[in-house]
Amino acid sequence: MNYFIGIDLGTSSVKLLLVDENGVIIKSVSRDYPLIFPHPGWAEQKPELWWDATVSALKEILADIDASTVCAIGAGGQMHGLVALDAQDNVIRPAILWNDGRTGEEVEYLNNVIGKEKLSSYTANIAFAGFTAPKLLWMKKHEKENFDRISKIMLPKDYLNYLLTGVHSCDYSDASGMLLLDVKNKKWSSEMLEICSVSLSQMPTLFESYEVIGKIKKDVASMFGLSEGVVVVAGAGDNAAAAVGTGTVGEGSCNISLGTSGTLFISSSSFKVDKHNALHAFDHADGKYHLMGCMLSAASCNKWFCEEILGTTDFAAEQKGITDEKLGRNGVFFLPYLMGERSPINDTDARGTFTGLSMDSSRSDMVQSVLEGVAFAAKDNLEIVKKLGIEVKKSKVCGGGAKSALWLKILANVLEIDLEIPQTEEGPGYGAAMLAMVGSGRFKTVQEASDALVRTVKTISPDKEISMRYRKAYEKFSALYPALKPVFKL
Ligand code: XUL
Repeated sequence: MNYFIGIDLGTSSVKLLLVDENGVIIKSVSRDYPLIFPHPGWAEQKPELWWDATVSALKEILADIDASTVCAIGAGGQMHGLVALDAQDNVIRPAILWNDGRTGEEVEYLNNVIGKEKLSSYTANIAFAGFTAPKLLWMKKHEKENFDRISKIMLPKDYLNYLLTGVHSCDYSDASGMLLLDVKNKKWSSEMLEICSVSLSQMPTLFESYEVIGKIKKDVASMFGLSEGVVVVAGAGDNAAAAVGTGTVGEGSCNISLGTSGTLFISSSSFKVDKHNALHAFDHADGKYHLMGCMLSAASCNKWFCEEILGTTDFAAEQKGITDEKLGRNGVFFLPYLMGERSPINDTDARGTFTGLSMDSSRSDMVQSVLEGVAFAAKDNLEIVKKLGIEVKKSKVCGGGAKSALWLKILANVLEIDLEIPQTEEGPGYGAAMLAMVGSGRFKTVQEASDALVRTVKTISPDKEISMRYRKAYEKFSALYPALKPVFKL
Protein backbone atom coordinates (compact mmCIF):
# COMPACT_ATOMS: atom_id res chain seq x y z
CA MET A 1 0.00 0.00 0.00
CA ASN A 2 1.20 3.52 -0.80
CA TYR A 3 0.61 6.39 1.61
CA PHE A 4 0.23 10.16 1.38
CA ILE A 5 0.51 12.83 4.05
CA GLY A 6 -1.75 15.87 4.22
CA ILE A 7 -0.69 18.71 6.49
CA ASP A 8 -3.11 21.38 7.74
CA LEU A 9 -1.02 24.20 9.19
CA GLY A 10 -3.74 25.93 11.20
CA THR A 11 -3.78 28.85 13.59
CA SER A 12 -4.07 26.90 16.83
CA SER A 13 -2.44 23.65 15.75
CA VAL A 14 -0.92 21.67 12.92
CA LYS A 15 -2.90 18.55 11.96
CA LEU A 16 -1.42 15.74 9.90
CA LEU A 17 -3.39 13.03 8.12
CA LEU A 18 -1.94 9.75 6.87
CA VAL A 19 -4.06 8.70 3.92
CA ASP A 20 -3.76 5.46 1.93
CA GLU A 21 -3.96 5.23 -1.87
CA ASN A 22 -7.74 4.64 -1.64
CA GLY A 23 -8.22 7.87 0.27
CA VAL A 24 -8.83 6.17 3.62
CA ILE A 25 -7.56 8.17 6.59
CA ILE A 26 -5.33 5.78 8.52
CA LYS A 27 -4.20 8.09 11.28
CA SER A 28 -4.40 11.71 12.32
CA VAL A 29 -2.07 13.53 14.67
CA SER A 30 -2.10 17.14 15.84
CA ARG A 31 0.18 19.43 17.81
CA ASP A 32 -0.85 22.77 19.32
CA TYR A 33 1.20 25.94 19.39
CA PRO A 34 0.57 29.31 20.97
CA LEU A 35 -0.86 32.36 19.27
CA ILE A 36 0.73 35.58 20.47
CA PHE A 37 -1.32 38.77 20.83
CA PRO A 38 1.45 41.37 21.39
CA HIS A 39 -1.09 44.19 21.27
CA PRO A 40 -4.94 44.26 21.14
CA GLY A 41 -5.97 43.28 17.60
CA TRP A 42 -2.50 41.98 16.62
CA ALA A 43 -1.74 38.29 16.10
CA GLU A 44 1.65 36.63 15.61
CA GLN A 45 3.18 33.17 15.65
CA LYS A 46 6.72 31.82 15.52
CA PRO A 47 7.32 29.89 12.26
CA GLU A 48 10.00 27.83 14.04
CA LEU A 49 7.24 26.40 16.26
CA TRP A 50 5.23 25.35 13.17
CA TRP A 51 8.25 23.32 12.05
CA ASP A 52 8.93 21.79 15.49
CA ALA A 53 5.25 20.82 15.79
CA THR A 54 5.23 19.34 12.27
CA VAL A 55 8.40 17.32 12.90
CA SER A 56 6.98 15.91 16.11
CA ALA A 57 3.63 15.09 14.46
CA LEU A 58 5.37 13.49 11.45
CA LYS A 59 7.36 11.20 13.74
CA GLU A 60 4.18 10.07 15.46
CA ILE A 61 2.16 9.59 12.30
CA LEU A 62 4.88 7.43 10.74
CA ALA A 63 5.43 5.36 13.87
CA ASP A 64 3.20 2.39 12.91
CA ILE A 65 3.93 2.09 9.18
CA ASP A 66 6.92 1.41 6.99
CA ALA A 67 7.80 5.07 6.31
CA SER A 68 9.39 4.16 2.98
CA THR A 69 5.87 3.51 1.56
CA VAL A 70 5.00 7.25 1.75
CA CYS A 71 4.95 8.72 -1.79
CA ALA A 72 4.03 12.37 -1.42
CA ILE A 73 3.33 15.20 1.02
CA GLY A 74 1.02 18.18 0.59
CA ALA A 75 0.18 21.07 2.90
CA GLY A 76 -2.70 23.49 3.25
CA GLY A 77 -1.99 26.43 5.49
CA GLN A 78 -3.37 29.50 7.21
CA MET A 79 -3.31 32.18 4.54
CA HIS A 80 -1.85 35.69 4.26
CA GLY A 81 0.72 35.41 7.11
CA LEU A 82 3.97 37.24 6.44
CA VAL A 83 7.01 35.02 6.96
CA ALA A 84 10.11 37.07 6.23
CA LEU A 85 13.42 35.24 5.67
CA ASP A 86 16.91 36.78 5.61
CA ALA A 87 19.71 35.92 3.15
CA GLN A 88 20.54 32.79 5.18
CA ASP A 89 16.85 31.79 5.15
CA ASN A 90 16.48 32.49 8.86
CA VAL A 91 13.15 33.87 10.08
CA ILE A 92 13.56 37.61 10.70
CA ARG A 93 10.63 38.16 13.10
CA PRO A 94 7.49 36.28 14.20
CA ALA A 95 4.97 35.84 11.38
CA ILE A 96 2.22 38.47 11.26
CA LEU A 97 -0.98 36.45 10.81
CA TRP A 98 -4.16 36.61 8.72
CA ASN A 99 -6.24 37.87 11.65
CA ASP A 100 -3.83 40.64 12.63
CA GLY A 101 -5.40 44.10 12.43
CA ARG A 102 -2.37 46.39 12.79
CA THR A 103 -2.35 47.60 9.20
CA GLY A 104 -5.33 49.99 9.31
CA GLU A 105 -3.23 52.92 8.01
CA GLU A 106 -1.62 50.87 5.25
CA VAL A 107 -5.00 49.52 4.12
CA GLU A 108 -6.32 53.08 4.05
CA TYR A 109 -3.31 54.15 1.94
CA LEU A 110 -3.67 51.25 -0.49
CA ASN A 111 -7.46 51.52 -0.89
CA ASN A 112 -7.75 55.30 -0.87
CA VAL A 113 -4.44 56.76 -2.09
CA ILE A 114 -3.41 54.09 -4.60
CA GLY A 115 -7.13 53.46 -5.01
CA LYS A 116 -9.40 50.43 -5.03
CA GLU A 117 -9.84 50.53 -8.79
CA LYS A 118 -6.12 50.28 -9.46
CA LEU A 119 -5.64 47.55 -6.85
CA SER A 120 -8.51 45.62 -8.34
CA SER A 121 -7.12 45.94 -11.86
CA TYR A 122 -3.65 44.79 -10.70
CA THR A 123 -4.77 41.93 -8.44
CA ALA A 124 -8.60 41.44 -8.70
CA ASN A 125 -8.81 42.41 -5.01
CA ILE A 126 -8.66 45.40 -2.69
CA ALA A 127 -6.64 45.68 0.52
CA PHE A 128 -7.79 44.03 3.74
CA ALA A 129 -5.87 44.29 7.00
CA GLY A 130 -4.92 40.61 7.06
CA PHE A 131 -3.48 40.55 3.55
CA THR A 132 0.29 40.34 3.11
CA ALA A 133 1.00 43.51 1.08
CA PRO A 134 -0.20 45.94 3.81
CA LYS A 135 1.98 44.01 6.29
CA LEU A 136 5.03 44.65 4.12
CA LEU A 137 4.22 48.37 4.10
CA TRP A 138 3.77 48.26 7.89
CA MET A 139 7.14 46.56 8.31
CA LYS A 140 8.81 49.08 6.02
CA LYS A 141 7.46 51.92 8.14
CA HIS A 142 7.77 50.50 11.64
CA GLU A 143 10.63 48.00 11.39
CA LYS A 144 12.82 49.36 8.60
CA GLU A 145 15.86 47.36 9.75
CA ASN A 146 13.89 44.10 9.53
CA PHE A 147 12.36 45.11 6.21
CA ASP A 148 15.80 45.80 4.70
CA ARG A 149 16.97 42.31 5.68
CA ILE A 150 14.19 40.49 3.78
CA SER A 151 15.58 38.13 1.18
CA LYS A 152 12.43 35.97 0.69
CA ILE A 153 8.76 36.60 1.41
CA MET A 154 6.92 33.40 2.27
CA LEU A 155 3.48 32.29 3.38
CA PRO A 156 3.12 29.92 6.37
CA LYS A 157 2.81 26.54 4.63
CA ASP A 158 5.50 27.59 2.10
CA TYR A 159 7.94 27.89 4.98
CA LEU A 160 7.26 24.23 5.87
CA ASN A 161 7.64 23.25 2.20
CA TYR A 162 10.94 25.13 2.09
CA LEU A 163 12.28 23.26 5.12
CA LEU A 164 11.16 19.95 3.59
CA THR A 165 12.62 20.56 0.12
CA GLY A 166 14.93 23.60 0.11
CA VAL A 167 12.66 25.19 -2.55
CA HIS A 168 11.09 28.64 -2.13
CA SER A 169 7.63 28.07 -3.60
CA CYS A 170 4.10 29.39 -3.41
CA ASP A 171 0.92 28.14 -5.05
CA TYR A 172 -1.57 30.39 -6.82
CA SER A 173 -4.44 29.98 -4.33
CA ASP A 174 -2.36 31.12 -1.36
CA ALA A 175 -0.45 33.74 -3.37
CA SER A 176 -3.84 35.29 -4.27
CA GLY A 177 -4.22 36.45 -0.65
CA MET A 178 -0.98 38.45 -0.67
CA LEU A 179 -2.40 41.28 -2.81
CA LEU A 180 0.80 40.87 -4.82
CA LEU A 181 -0.54 38.43 -7.42
CA ASP A 182 -2.30 39.20 -10.67
CA VAL A 183 -4.94 36.56 -9.93
CA LYS A 184 -6.45 36.43 -13.41
CA ASN A 185 -3.14 36.02 -15.23
CA LYS A 186 -1.38 34.02 -12.51
CA LYS A 187 1.82 36.06 -12.19
CA TRP A 188 3.29 38.42 -9.62
CA SER A 189 1.99 41.95 -10.22
CA SER A 190 4.94 44.21 -11.06
CA GLU A 191 2.84 47.24 -10.02
CA MET A 192 2.11 45.79 -6.59
CA LEU A 193 5.73 44.72 -6.05
CA GLU A 194 6.78 48.29 -6.81
CA ILE A 195 4.14 49.77 -4.48
CA CYS A 196 5.45 47.52 -1.69
CA SER A 197 9.14 48.16 -2.52
CA VAL A 198 9.91 44.49 -3.12
CA SER A 199 11.60 42.86 -6.08
CA LEU A 200 10.74 39.73 -8.02
CA SER A 201 13.83 37.99 -6.61
CA GLN A 202 12.32 38.30 -3.11
CA MET A 203 9.22 36.39 -4.21
CA PRO A 204 8.93 32.59 -4.21
CA THR A 205 8.42 30.61 -7.44
CA LEU A 206 4.75 30.11 -8.36
CA PHE A 207 3.19 26.67 -8.91
CA GLU A 208 -0.26 25.13 -9.29
CA SER A 209 -1.28 23.56 -5.97
CA TYR A 210 -0.99 20.01 -7.31
CA GLU A 211 2.40 20.54 -8.96
CA VAL A 212 5.51 18.99 -7.47
CA ILE A 213 7.94 21.62 -6.14
CA GLY A 214 10.68 19.09 -5.43
CA LYS A 215 11.77 16.01 -3.51
CA ILE A 216 12.34 16.06 0.22
CA LYS A 217 15.92 16.88 1.25
CA LYS A 218 18.20 13.93 2.07
CA ASP A 219 18.58 14.94 5.72
CA VAL A 220 14.80 15.23 6.09
CA ALA A 221 14.32 11.80 4.49
CA SER A 222 16.79 10.19 6.86
CA MET A 223 15.35 11.99 9.91
CA PHE A 224 11.98 10.26 9.31
CA GLY A 225 13.04 7.07 7.50
CA LEU A 226 11.25 8.33 4.37
CA SER A 227 12.38 7.40 0.90
CA GLU A 228 14.45 10.08 -0.88
CA GLY A 229 11.91 9.88 -3.72
CA VAL A 230 9.09 11.46 -1.66
CA VAL A 231 7.71 14.45 -3.55
CA VAL A 232 6.22 17.59 -2.05
CA VAL A 233 3.45 19.42 -3.90
CA ALA A 234 2.99 23.20 -3.70
CA GLY A 235 -0.17 22.76 -1.60
CA ALA A 236 -2.76 25.49 -1.09
CA GLY A 237 -4.20 28.13 1.18
CA ASP A 238 -6.23 26.31 3.84
CA ASN A 239 -9.58 27.36 2.36
CA ALA A 240 -8.73 26.15 -1.14
CA ALA A 241 -7.32 22.94 0.36
CA ALA A 242 -10.51 22.52 2.43
CA ALA A 243 -12.61 23.04 -0.68
CA VAL A 244 -10.68 20.27 -2.43
CA GLY A 245 -11.14 18.07 0.65
CA THR A 246 -14.91 18.55 0.55
CA GLY A 247 -15.18 18.15 -3.23
CA THR A 248 -15.84 21.86 -3.83
CA VAL A 249 -14.15 22.05 -7.22
CA GLY A 250 -15.25 22.95 -10.76
CA GLU A 251 -18.20 25.23 -11.42
CA GLY A 252 -20.46 26.73 -8.77
CA SER A 253 -20.18 24.57 -5.68
CA CYS A 254 -20.00 26.00 -2.18
CA ASN A 255 -18.08 25.10 0.95
CA ILE A 256 -18.47 26.66 4.37
CA SER A 257 -15.63 26.29 6.81
CA LEU A 258 -16.23 26.76 10.53
CA GLY A 259 -12.68 26.86 11.80
CA THR A 260 -10.87 29.56 13.77
CA SER A 261 -12.05 31.72 10.87
CA GLY A 262 -15.26 31.11 8.95
CA THR A 263 -15.34 31.14 5.19
CA LEU A 264 -17.88 30.85 2.44
CA PHE A 265 -16.14 29.54 -0.65
CA ILE A 266 -17.64 29.39 -4.14
CA SER A 267 -15.65 27.48 -6.76
CA SER A 268 -15.75 28.67 -10.33
CA SER A 269 -14.34 27.38 -13.59
CA SER A 270 -13.94 30.92 -14.94
CA PHE A 271 -12.43 34.09 -13.47
CA LYS A 272 -15.02 36.25 -11.62
CA VAL A 273 -14.69 39.41 -9.51
CA ASP A 274 -17.10 40.88 -6.99
CA LYS A 275 -17.23 44.42 -8.33
CA HIS A 276 -17.69 45.78 -4.80
CA ASN A 277 -14.75 43.65 -3.66
CA ALA A 278 -16.56 42.47 -0.55
CA LEU A 279 -15.61 38.92 -1.55
CA HIS A 280 -12.08 37.88 -2.44
CA ALA A 281 -11.46 36.80 -6.03
CA PHE A 282 -8.73 34.15 -5.79
CA ASP A 283 -7.23 31.27 -7.76
CA HIS A 284 -8.34 27.79 -6.72
CA ALA A 285 -6.24 24.71 -6.01
CA ASP A 286 -7.91 22.80 -8.88
CA GLY A 287 -6.23 25.15 -11.36
CA LYS A 288 -9.34 27.37 -11.69
CA TYR A 289 -10.82 30.20 -9.56
CA HIS A 290 -13.01 30.96 -6.56
CA LEU A 291 -14.81 33.71 -4.68
CA MET A 292 -14.60 33.79 -0.91
CA GLY A 293 -15.97 35.71 2.05
CA CYS A 294 -13.95 35.43 5.27
CA MET A 295 -15.18 35.95 8.82
CA LEU A 296 -12.21 36.45 11.12
CA SER A 297 -13.79 34.68 14.09
CA ALA A 298 -16.09 31.66 13.75
CA ALA A 299 -15.50 28.51 15.81
CA SER A 300 -13.08 30.69 17.77
CA CYS A 301 -16.08 32.67 19.13
CA ASN A 302 -17.54 29.53 20.69
CA LYS A 303 -14.12 28.43 21.94
CA TRP A 304 -13.50 31.86 23.45
CA PHE A 305 -16.92 32.03 25.13
CA CYS A 306 -16.79 28.50 26.53
CA GLU A 307 -13.14 28.39 27.54
CA GLU A 308 -12.29 31.95 28.52
CA ILE A 309 -15.63 33.15 29.87
CA LEU A 310 -17.50 30.05 31.05
CA GLY A 311 -14.33 28.17 31.98
CA THR A 312 -15.20 24.88 30.28
CA THR A 313 -13.96 22.83 27.35
CA ASP A 314 -17.13 20.71 27.25
CA PHE A 315 -18.76 22.51 24.31
CA ALA A 316 -21.36 19.75 23.81
CA ALA A 317 -22.63 20.06 27.40
CA GLU A 318 -23.16 23.80 26.92
CA GLN A 319 -25.31 23.13 23.83
CA LYS A 320 -27.37 20.30 25.35
CA GLY A 321 -30.41 22.28 26.50
CA ILE A 322 -30.82 24.21 23.22
CA THR A 323 -33.91 22.57 21.70
CA ASP A 324 -35.62 23.24 18.34
CA GLU A 325 -38.24 25.26 20.22
CA LYS A 326 -35.58 27.80 21.14
CA LEU A 327 -34.16 28.24 17.64
CA GLY A 328 -35.00 31.63 16.15
CA ARG A 329 -36.58 32.77 19.43
CA ASN A 330 -33.48 33.98 21.22
CA GLY A 331 -33.70 37.52 22.59
CA VAL A 332 -29.91 37.64 22.94
CA PHE A 333 -27.77 38.58 19.93
CA PHE A 334 -24.02 38.29 19.53
CA LEU A 335 -21.80 40.12 17.05
CA PRO A 336 -18.87 37.79 16.30
CA TYR A 337 -16.27 40.46 15.56
CA LEU A 338 -13.75 39.49 18.24
CA MET A 339 -10.79 40.23 15.94
CA GLY A 340 -12.50 42.97 13.90
CA GLU A 341 -14.14 41.68 10.73
CA ARG A 342 -13.10 41.09 7.12
CA SER A 343 -16.06 40.12 4.89
CA PRO A 344 -18.25 41.80 4.14
CA ILE A 345 -17.83 44.84 6.44
CA ASN A 346 -14.01 45.19 6.28
CA ASP A 347 -13.68 46.91 9.67
CA THR A 348 -10.67 46.25 11.88
CA ASP A 349 -12.24 48.30 14.70
CA ALA A 350 -15.45 46.22 14.89
CA ARG A 351 -15.77 44.19 18.11
CA GLY A 352 -17.96 41.49 19.62
CA THR A 353 -21.05 42.36 21.69
CA PHE A 354 -23.92 40.66 23.45
CA THR A 355 -27.15 42.62 22.99
CA GLY A 356 -30.66 42.09 24.34
CA LEU A 357 -29.76 40.61 27.73
CA SER A 358 -32.45 40.59 30.42
CA MET A 359 -32.79 39.21 33.95
CA ASP A 360 -34.11 35.93 32.55
CA SER A 361 -31.35 35.50 29.97
CA SER A 362 -29.56 32.23 30.65
CA ARG A 363 -26.08 30.89 30.11
CA SER A 364 -27.44 28.71 27.31
CA ASP A 365 -29.15 31.70 25.62
CA MET A 366 -25.72 33.30 25.44
CA VAL A 367 -24.09 30.14 24.06
CA GLN A 368 -26.91 29.93 21.49
CA SER A 369 -26.44 33.58 20.53
CA VAL A 370 -22.75 32.94 19.82
CA LEU A 371 -23.57 30.07 17.45
CA GLU A 372 -26.33 32.15 15.86
CA GLY A 373 -24.15 35.27 15.53
CA VAL A 374 -21.62 33.32 13.46
CA ALA A 375 -24.44 31.87 11.31
CA PHE A 376 -25.89 35.36 10.73
CA ALA A 377 -22.43 36.64 9.74
CA ALA A 378 -22.22 33.76 7.24
CA LYS A 379 -25.61 34.88 5.90
CA ASP A 380 -24.18 38.40 5.39
CA ASN A 381 -21.64 36.77 3.05
CA LEU A 382 -24.22 34.58 1.34
CA GLU A 383 -26.32 37.68 0.62
CA ILE A 384 -23.35 39.22 -1.22
CA VAL A 385 -22.94 36.03 -3.25
CA LYS A 386 -26.65 36.15 -4.16
CA LYS A 387 -26.32 39.78 -5.26
CA LEU A 388 -23.68 38.63 -7.76
CA GLY A 389 -26.35 36.45 -9.32
CA ILE A 390 -24.86 33.21 -8.00
CA GLU A 391 -27.46 30.77 -6.75
CA VAL A 392 -26.47 28.65 -3.76
CA LYS A 393 -28.90 25.88 -2.87
CA LYS A 394 -26.53 23.68 -0.92
CA SER A 395 -23.11 23.75 0.62
CA LYS A 396 -20.52 21.39 2.02
CA VAL A 397 -19.34 22.15 5.57
CA CYS A 398 -16.05 21.46 7.31
CA GLY A 399 -13.95 22.65 10.24
CA GLY A 400 -14.17 22.05 13.98
CA GLY A 401 -17.55 23.82 14.26
CA ALA A 402 -19.06 21.26 11.88
CA LYS A 403 -18.76 18.67 14.67
CA SER A 404 -21.72 20.34 16.42
CA ALA A 405 -25.08 19.01 15.14
CA LEU A 406 -26.80 21.99 16.75
CA TRP A 407 -24.57 24.54 15.02
CA LEU A 408 -25.18 22.82 11.67
CA LYS A 409 -28.95 22.92 12.26
CA ILE A 410 -28.77 26.63 13.11
CA LEU A 411 -26.63 27.30 10.03
CA ALA A 412 -28.92 25.39 7.63
CA ASN A 413 -31.95 27.27 8.95
CA VAL A 414 -30.32 30.71 8.96
CA LEU A 415 -28.92 30.26 5.44
CA GLU A 416 -31.98 28.33 4.21
CA ILE A 417 -29.84 25.89 2.24
CA ASP A 418 -29.04 22.18 2.48
CA LEU A 419 -25.78 21.41 4.22
CA GLU A 420 -23.93 18.36 2.99
CA ILE A 421 -21.60 16.73 5.46
CA PRO A 422 -18.60 15.00 3.91
CA GLN A 423 -17.14 11.87 5.47
CA THR A 424 -14.39 13.94 7.06
CA GLU A 425 -14.60 17.42 8.50
CA GLU A 426 -10.78 17.59 8.19
CA GLY A 427 -11.12 19.68 5.01
CA PRO A 428 -7.65 21.24 4.58
CA GLY A 429 -5.61 18.19 5.64
CA TYR A 430 -7.62 15.85 3.44
CA GLY A 431 -7.53 18.26 0.51
CA ALA A 432 -3.77 18.61 0.94
CA ALA A 433 -3.38 14.81 0.85
CA MET A 434 -5.52 14.75 -2.33
CA LEU A 435 -3.23 17.36 -3.92
CA ALA A 436 -0.26 15.15 -3.00
CA MET A 437 -2.02 12.22 -4.71
CA VAL A 438 -2.50 14.25 -7.88
CA GLY A 439 1.11 15.49 -7.83
CA SER A 440 2.49 11.99 -7.53
CA GLY A 441 0.28 10.63 -10.32
CA ARG A 442 -2.27 8.64 -8.27
CA PHE A 443 -4.96 10.80 -9.95
CA LYS A 444 -4.68 12.86 -13.12
CA THR A 445 -6.59 15.93 -11.93
CA VAL A 446 -8.01 17.39 -8.75
CA GLN A 447 -11.50 16.87 -10.17
CA GLU A 448 -10.73 13.17 -10.72
CA ALA A 449 -9.44 12.83 -7.14
CA SER A 450 -12.53 14.59 -5.83
CA ASP A 451 -14.93 12.40 -7.84
CA ALA A 452 -13.16 9.27 -6.63
CA LEU A 453 -12.67 10.13 -2.97
CA VAL A 454 -15.18 12.61 -1.57
CA ARG A 455 -18.49 11.26 -0.29
CA THR A 456 -21.38 13.05 1.41
CA VAL A 457 -22.50 11.08 4.44
CA LYS A 458 -25.42 13.23 5.59
CA THR A 459 -27.55 16.17 4.42
CA ILE A 460 -29.11 18.65 6.83
CA SER A 461 -32.11 20.49 5.37
CA PRO A 462 -33.71 23.64 6.77
CA ASP A 463 -37.05 23.44 8.54
CA LYS A 464 -39.68 25.89 7.17
CA GLU A 465 -40.88 27.18 10.52
CA ILE A 466 -37.47 27.58 12.11
CA SER A 467 -36.16 29.32 8.96
CA MET A 468 -39.03 31.83 9.09
CA ARG A 469 -38.20 32.62 12.70
CA TYR A 470 -34.58 33.13 11.74
CA ARG A 471 -35.52 35.48 8.88
CA LYS A 472 -37.00 37.86 11.46
CA ALA A 473 -34.07 37.43 13.83
CA TYR A 474 -31.62 38.17 10.98
CA GLU A 475 -33.35 41.51 10.38
CA LYS A 476 -32.60 42.47 13.98
CA PHE A 477 -29.04 41.16 13.76
CA SER A 478 -28.50 43.23 10.59
CA ALA A 479 -29.43 46.43 12.42
CA LEU A 480 -26.81 45.93 15.15
CA TYR A 481 -23.48 46.57 13.41
CA PRO A 482 -24.54 49.80 11.63
CA ALA A 483 -25.93 51.10 14.94
CA LEU A 484 -22.82 50.18 16.92
CA LYS A 485 -20.18 51.15 14.35
CA PRO A 486 -19.55 54.57 15.96
CA VAL A 487 -19.07 52.88 19.35
CA PHE A 488 -16.38 50.60 17.91
CA LYS A 489 -14.44 53.41 16.24
CA LEU A 490 -11.09 53.60 18.06
C1 XUL B 1 -8.87 33.52 4.55
C2 XUL B 1 -8.33 33.71 5.91
C3 XUL B 1 -8.50 32.62 6.91
C4 XUL B 1 -7.20 31.88 7.14
C5 XUL B 1 -7.39 30.91 8.28
O1 XUL B 1 -8.78 34.65 3.77
O2 XUL B 1 -7.76 34.70 6.25
O3 XUL B 1 -9.51 31.74 6.55
O4 XUL B 1 -6.77 31.27 5.98
O5 XUL B 1 -6.39 30.01 8.42
